[in-house]
Amino acid sequence: MTIEIKPLETGTPIFVPSPDPQHPRVLLATRLFNDGHIDIEEASHISGETPDTLEKFFEQSGVLPRKRVLVCGGAGFIGSNFIHHILEKYPYYSVINYDKLTYAGNLENLRNVEKSPRYKFIKGDIADTETIEKLVQNEKINYIINFAAETHVTRSLLLRADEFLRTNVLGVHSLLEVVKRNPQVEIFVHVSTDEVYGSLDLDSQDSFTEDTAFQPNVPYAAAKAGGDMLCRSYHNSYKIPVIVTHCSNNYGPFQHPEKLIPNALFRALRNQPITLHGNGQHVRDWIFVRDHCEALDLILHKGKPGHVYNVGADVEKNTHEIARTVLKYLGKPEHLITLVDDRPGNDLRYSISPQKIKKELGWDTTVSFEEGIALTVQWYENNISWVDAIRERDKEFSKYI
Ligand SMILES: NC(=O)c1ccc[n+]([C@@H]2O[C@H](COP(=O)([O-])OP(=O)(O)OC[C@H]3O[C@@H](n4cnc5c(N)ncnc54)[C@H](O)[C@@H]3O)[C@@H](O)[C@H]2O)c1
Repeated sequence: MTIEIKPLETGTPIFVPSPDPQHPRVLLATRLFNDGHIDIEEASHISGETPDTLEKFFEQSGVLPRKRVLVCGGAGFIGSNFIHHILEKYPYYSVINYDKLTYAGNLENLRNVEKSPRYKFIKGDIADTETIEKLVQNEKINYIINFAAETHVTRSLLLRADEFLRTNVLGVHSLLEVVKRNPQVEIFVHVSTDEVYGSLDLDSQDSFTEDTAFQPNVPYAAAKAGGDMLCRSYHNSYKIPVIVTHCSNNYGPFQHPEKLIPNALFRALRNQPITLHGNGQHVRDWIFVRDHCEALDLILHKGKPGHVYNVGADVEKNTHEIARTVLKYLGKPEHLITLVDDRPGNDLRYSISPQKIKKELGWDTTVSFEEGIALTVQWYENNISWVDAIRERDKEFSKYI
């Protein structure tokens, strides 16, 4: 008698031997993996199963959940870095990027993932409550994170601040309404800034904590503070699961060249003067964008609803030091630094204490300032065409830097 062996048809499930779910080593690996203490490789080591078998087993037993994340403002600087982070780290998650594509939104930032079945882009405004609500329901969204904002301080000063209020206040209100009406949204993380806390003296040792009172000094910061306060009120009034974060100045790949570090890089590469406001002594706390993304990932998964988390790298440097560092990395002369009139409401110093997120969620930075700047310089040197395309598209932008 002959036995016919048929080839597997497309879509036929491949048999994967299941581990014994009650085996103590499998139980331990599952618990540690589920609590986020170990990754699949470590779980494999503990359980004695191969990573593939274990991954299949976790997926079937619901340990690897297929979360659907709505990222608002995902075509901007931090949002696009965050989308890359999530898609790389969570193979079972899918991301919907909802962005209005203002001058700051750039789909080029997501070119590498645009064909992924786990990524989708939808053009839209966060102030459009009805569209977002349909999206949340149709796409069965589990998590929302909001990066969408008008973010450039100088624009908020030179132009009227209407758009800042519309997006940073009314847009946040729309998202809160949607979360309130759709309890399947497990968590809503609203990304904000340390600028809401106002300014510290240059010679003080103080840092902003989560309890520091808001004292915004420019329209951008005031609009962000408005959105943050709405989040607080919606949690207290309706118990919706919202978390607000305040981070310090970010730098890294995909940052619009209107902001200090990419602007200095871009100008220095062309031997053009780097202009600094006032005496260049304004201090900011600098964090590499991927460290911020890791903090947001932890907050999304483990943060406590209704809480506020400050995120910073304890790297305080004034704008003159930043410009000198960029010039040093590019081997350019310091005389390219040019001081210009200070801008109105320019806060002297920001310093943010990350003690709460370090203590409660175990977060810390992984990239030193020197490593981060080296990575950033290298990225911009390799992606000059990315900057040129922005300049070409937005010829007005040099007015606002
Ligand atoms: N960049 C920083 O150093 C920094 C530091 C701390 C906090 N933050 C906060 O992080 C968030 C993201 O900052 P960023 O630097 O990535 O900003 P960005 O300006 O690079 O990107 C903002 C994105 O939001 C989109 N957007 C604007 N209005 C919208 C609307 N009404 N609806 C939908 N999309 C809209 C834009 O198209 C763009 O893609 C902001 O809320 C900002 O306040 C930024």
